[in-house]
Amino acid sequence: MTAPILLTGGTGTLGSLVLPRLRAHGYDVRVLSRRPRDPQDGVEYVTGDLSTGEGVEAAVDGLETIVHLAGTAKGDDVKARNLVRAALRVGRPHLAYISVVGADRVPVESFIDRGAFGYFKAKRDAELIIAESGLPWSTLRATQFHQSMIAMFDAMTKMPVVPTFSGVQFQPVDASEVADRLVEVALGEPAGLVPEVAGPQAYPMKQLLRAYLSAKGKHRLTMPIRLPGKAFRAHRAGANLNLERAVGVRTWERALADPR
Ligand SMILES: NC(=O)c1ccc[n+]([C@@H]2O[C@H](COP(=O)([O-])OP(=O)(O)OC[C@H]3O[C@@H](n4cnc5c(N)ncnc54)[C@H](OP(=O)(O)O)[C@@H]3O)[C@@H](O)[C@H]2O)c1
Repeated sequence: MTAPILLTGGTGTLGSLVLPRLRAHGYDVRVLSRRPRDPQDGVEYVTGDLSTGEGVEAAVDGLETIVHLAGTAKGDDVKARNLVRAALRVGRPHLAYISVVGADRVPVESFIDRGAFGYFKAKRDAELIIAESGLPWSTLRATQFHQSMIAMFDAMTKMPVVPTFSGVQFQPVDASEVADRLVEVALGEPAGLVPEVAGPQAYPMKQLLRAYLSAKGKHRLTMPIRLPGKAFRAHRAGANLNLERAVGVRTWERALADPR
């Protein structure tokens, strides 16, 4: 009998791709979610909130592996701290975490940095909380998921004029390819910071938007914007990219033509 695996964020974009992969490896999975859900074959849902810590200790009880994917635009450091605290009370599970490319390279110092790019600092703080926790750990950083960029453009193109970050590129990767790698990392030996996963190609944001508009048959004006601050400057310098780790295969064009 293998112990079940706790999957936080198992209801999200990445988590819903990781869940069937863990099941395919023969593991029962316990998913932590803020909302109650009915169990499925080999999948138990426990209700808890990583931002408050409520329900987390019961969720981590009796586990050898935690795959921590729960994340939002703000407060991933708090979620990591609450998860680590609960995990340390019940044992020494392997904690596998997903972070973002650039977490260690995007400086978040000023008010504007924090407002627009505070996500990167929270991810970096979460990485450090996990690395310094005393638990066995592995952290994988990925670039933006196709699925998330498409959702972002869906929202932005509700406006007649769509702002694009001038001089900023993105290197989107398919969440299914990140899920493949993350499952290998989670089921392997604790490995610390593992090599990053990035999409096959970097594109200016305007080019990504143009391809999206064309695929969706939408027409919008675009407006380049520049933000002050070090975090935006770091993005212009490519801190959110990793061309040496362009290991993703599915391109942006493919993701638009054949969404999944
Ligand atoms: N999206 C990207 O482009 C990207 C790129 C690199 C890294 N990442 C990282 O990958 C992870 C997954 O991203 P995603 O895009 O798949 O996320 P998502 O689709 O937005 O889903 C977020 C997940 O987090 C859970 N969650 C949020 N707040 C929670 C809380 N307080 N307590 C418990 N669960 C909570 C949600 O569960 P319930 O709603 O069921 O509670 C949901 O399953 C995140 O850590 C993100 O930072 C994302």
